[in-house]
Amino acid sequence: MTREKPCVLIGVTGCIAAYKTCEIVRGLQKAGVRVKVVMTEHATEFVGPTTFRALTHEPVAVGLFDDPSDPIHHISLAQECDVFLIAPCTANVAAKIAHGIADDLLTTTALATKSPLVLAPAMNVGMYEAAATQENFETLRRRGVRFIDAASGYQACGDVGRGRMEEPEAIVSQILTLLDDLFGVKRDLVGERVMVTAGPTVEPIDAVRYISNHSSGKMGYAIAEAACARGAEVTLVSGPVSLAAPEGVTVVPVKTACDMLEAARSAFAESSIAIFSAAVADLRPANPSDRKLKKGSDDASLASILLVENPDILKTLGWEKKPGQVVIGFAAETNDVIENARVKLEKKNADMIVANWVGEGRAFGQDDNQASFVLHEEVIDLPSMSKRDLADRILDQALLIAR
Ligand code: C5P
Repeated sequence: MTREKPCVLIGVTGCIAAYKTCEIVRGLQKAGVRVKVVMTEHATEFVGPTTFRALTHEPVAVGLFDDPSDPIHHISLAQECDVFLIAPCTANVAAKIAHGIADDLLTTTALATKSPLVLAPAMNVGMYEAAATQENFETLRRRGVRFIDAASGYQACGDVGRGRMEEPEAIVSQILTLLDDLFGVKRDLVGERVMVTAGPTVEPIDAVRYISNHSSGKMGYAIAEAACARGAEVTLVSGPVSLAAPEGVTVVPVKTACDMLEAARSAFAESSIAIFSAAVADLRPANPSDRKLKKGSDDASLASILLVENPDILKTLGWEKKPGQVVIGFAAETNDVIENARVKLEKKNADMIVANWVGEGRAFGQDDNQASFVLHEEVIDLPSMSKRDLADRILDQALLIAR
């Protein structure tokens, strides 16, 4: 199941570092996070609400009564966000929150929210080191408020010392880690387009008969679902299977290998990662009949079906690979698994082959899978795990190859 985008509410308070908050907004958005902004009156002296409205495409409120359509705006903001980040957070606002003072929209929302509250302090070194500020921070920490500690360095006022807001990239990365922890999913495939082939192909003999195989499509569907959960745009080119289309994934249903090649080729052109997990029929009847062949009158045609080779989709597209594209194939074998996978890696110009044993109830149709990653430089043996976990391991490896 896929979840809606996580939402981070950013509170901006009155400090020169407010200009850096624009970068935090952009960084989170690039990672697929919905960002809303609430500002204190003083913050608007440094950056206008128009700037944040333009960046977030969301209304930006300052006063408690700014949104006449929402009489309890502080409560809806407090409930809607998954994380409330205050960056920059002045000594004054930290003090107010520590003492439960709620005299504007930002501090009222901070008091009302049950979501994790994260403060990125920014203030003059004297204010930062003041006993009152440090005690307020201590109180807040004790209550579970998280801090992205201020760094040391030159300050806008000319002083040198602790109190500079942490750099936007570091703040973005800490918030993304927190979102990962909260939701248990990485969002590391945002901006990537992933193409997956899955399931068997069916090759008609006549209007009712066909050649196919036992592939359930579970592996490819698990990969598509995992990639989508991690933020990728996913196209799943699927042969006939009895699995529900994963939510949020574009499914292109196909029947034959030739159809699959055509659909995969058009999705591949747009993809940064392509994973070929389909069990494509190697051969197809050369002259399929468009009517049902009958016993008695068509005995000769039924007794001997001339087969021709299907296109190898992975091999064809592997050799069409452009710089920056990652191509991953599978090798299901009953013997010499690793050796066979190595040969396929070269022959099909893939970046990795996921090799696994089949037969005796293994892999086909099962929920678990034991595999090895065969790469150009190494072989990584994995323990037996669910197809969904394996899907995530494959995507982790795809990202390593891409970087
Ligand atoms: O050569 P073999 O069929 O064992 O290779 C398996 C890999 O090649 C899988 O990734 C499979 O999806 C892909 N393949 C393909 N088109 C074919 C045959 C295999 O894409 N006609």
